[in-house]
Amino acid sequence: MQSDGPLRVLGIAGSPRYGGNTELLLREALKGAADRGAEVDTLFLCDLDIAPCRHCDGCLKTGKCVVDDDMQMVHRRLRDLDRLILASPVFFMGVTAQTKAMIDRCQALWAMKYRLKLPVPSTPGRKRRGLFLSVGGLPYEKERLFAPSRATVRAFFATLDIKYSGELFFANIDKKAAITEHPTALSDAFAAGQELTSEGT
Ligand SMILES: Cc1cc2nc3c(=O)[nH]c(=O)nc-3n(C[C@H](O)[C@H](O)[C@H](O)COP(=O)(O)O)c2cc1C
Repeated sequence: MQSDGPLRVLGIAGSPRYGGNTELLLREALKGAADRGAEVDTLFLCDLDIAPCRHCDGCLKTGKCVVDDDMQMVHRRLRDLDRLILASPVFFMGVTAQTKAMIDRCQALWAMKYRLKLPVPSTPGRKRRGLFLSVGGLPYEKERLFAPSRATVRAFFATLDIKYSGELFFANIDKKAAITEHPTALSDAFAAGQELTSEGT
């Protein structure tokens, strides 16, 4: 545990299907983090008003997005956290539109970091780590099914100074809540949440 208070863990649910497979995985991972004493919270992207990036370049000089919607709040949450758990299913071989819109709007944080040379984390010095959870409905080999989403999420985490510390991927999971029938998925997610918030990491 880091010295100044409990770890702040933010879960982001990127699926438009409430109670779906990635949400169930996310809940378990957050339970694992809470079990280790972390302070956990969840944002459901579906509940938020997040417009796509306009590429207006308005953020390049200020590090702030000109679009005034829920993403202003999400930027603050992304800057404040110690651990991020992002959950998105595979939609057409990538993350969901809700997840991609949120990621693209982090262009403002990209500008802050790479153009303005300002720190993105609100408390620089605290270690920031992230976990990516995903499922896909097709029985594809994992590397083929999840590599495109992984590349997107790695770029997103790097922009936010979040180390890509783990991933859990499950193929051939299509029906709502089918993940509950997988022999280890939920316990794997719980353990991954614990590991993400383990002392000394
Ligand atoms: C619009 C859409 C696109 C999808 N594209 C893919 C895909 O490219 N590959 C795949 O394996 N599954 C695909 N799926 C299936 C979902 O990944 C699958 O149903 C998953 O379990 C949904 O997770 P959730 O319950 O967390 O929403 C797609 C589903 C939808 C609705």
